Amino acid sequence: MTDKLIIFDTTLRDGEQSPGAAMTREKKIRIARQLEKLGVDVIEAGFAAASVGDFEAVKAVAETIKGSTVCSLARASENDVRRAGEAIQPAKSGRIHTFIATSPIHMQHKLRMSEDQVVERAVAAVKWALEYTDDVEFSAEDAVRSDMEFLVRIFDEVIKAGAKTLNVPDTVGYSIPAGWGERIKQLIQRVPNSDKVIWSTHCHNDLGLAVANSLSAVMNGARQVECTINGLGERAGNASLEEIVMAVKTRRDVFNLDTRIDTTQIVTTSKLVSSITGYPVQPNKAIVGANAFAHESGIHQDGVLKHRETYEIMRAEDVGWNANKLTLGKLSGRNALRSRFTSLNIEFASEESFNAAFVRFKELADRKHEIFDEDLQALVSDEAIAQVDEYYRLTSLRAHCETGILPVARVVMSIGSQSHEAEMHGGGPVDATFKAIEKIVHSGTELQLYSVNNITSGTDAQGEVTVRLAKGGRIVNGQGADTDIVVASAKAYLNALNKLHGNAERAHPQV
Ligand code: KIV
Ligand code: ZN
Repeated sequence: MTDKLIIFDTTLRDGEQSPGAAMTREKKIRIARQLEKLGVDVIEAGFAAASVGDFEAVKAVAETIKGSTVCSLARASENDVRRAGEAIQPAKSGRIHTFIATSPIHMQHKLRMSEDQVVERAVAAVKWALEYTDDVEFSAEDAVRSDMEFLVRIFDEVIKAGAKTLNVPDTVGYSIPAGWGERIKQLIQRVPNSDKVIWSTHCHNDLGLAVANSLSAVMNGARQVECTINGLGERAGNASLEEIVMAVKTRRDVFNLDTRIDTTQIVTTSKLVSSITGYPVQPNKAIVGANAFAHESGIHQDGVLKHRETYEIMRAEDVGWNANKLTLGKLSGRNALRSRFTSLNIEFASEESFNAAFVRFKELADRKHEIFDEDLQALVSDEAIAQVDEYYRLTSLRAHCETGILPVARVVMSIGSQSHEAEMHGGGPVDATFKAIEKIVHSGTELQLYSVNNITSGTDAQGEVTVRLAKGGRIVNGQGADTDIVVASAKAYLNALNKLHGNAERAHPQV
């Protein structure tokens, strides 16, 4: 007999709390569709009360997704819970996830509330949530540093109030596996009626132990794990979904648990999340890193060739490597492109937007021989950017590099309806381009990160550039893709400036 492990994905909520990773409604829908295809049980689509845009994004995901439960986070306040309830209303299956901090340090300094007040508020929040759905989850934020007696008391009260899932978060990534497992075990033993609810865990990776702690919780009775694709999330991130799922699957002898995950969708999902958020995956990352199944040393290669299992505990194809073969090329027509987009879950709002994507596809195919799924994903992201009524737009760019001569770039761009141009020297063509843009816009931003990744292999691959800019406490990631990385860089810089220009004030749930 096996038991079921519920996979609760919070890429669109906790993952979105990574610096600059805020996602638009359209981007959330694209990721949510892929998460549904991956087979996650619960998609935490966002924090509906954060802003009007966040509310609309959660609602849009709730309207779109049929195969997974769609959840919104809500602080334990009436306004938050009601916003979450309204946002998940269209969902076939909707959940409200309400939380309040339970550790002395949080109650005293952040909430300025007594234990009694916290319990009262938690119970009230669960009851407000039940007016919208009977699927209510309660989290005791900073459970790792909370007093055990108090945790038992508050969990007992929220079960009585009607919560169905109790989440035990290691909010600050402080626990170690044995202690965390023990804490879950104690809670299950001591909280009355603990067998009537699902126990969940939510671990952060500050000490690099999020996956180990989550698995320890599972070994001690947790039956829901909260995790994110690529381990994205606040600070050092959350437990990574792909690592948890593959550990449970590969070591079924230990866990004896099933998930609903179609593991062959893992790599596609990882690439999509990386490309949309601008967070690259390190090559040596387990499961989804480019080296995860590469055998460098001669001895290993020899072993793998003789008998694969000498050095491989999982098969690359089981997690979706090699799935994205060559898709399209210069001679591919509209129907081939349309059907490829459909298989990638990409829908176009109108025939005009598909036509625009087709034109871009042809332009790309002229420069790049083979077009892969990742190129199509990037093309759609670029297309979405181009369709937004952009304030800053690149008209043309010329960059010149020659050994022994200082690189120079000339940028022509528009701000609103006005055209501007500037020429600047720089340490390299990208530096010169950014300086030329800044000579025009005087943005006053701080460049926090610049990174280039090749979307596919080969020297004709598109470079995907991420630029992180900060200004006045706001941080945004801009992205751009092109076979010319200087052009991709300019696009990414302007994309970040456009995001900063947009008026996107939003609340952070945990601050
Ligand atoms: O880390 C945390 O405690 C959270 C809660 C809101 C569940 O993200
Ligand atoms: Zn968290």
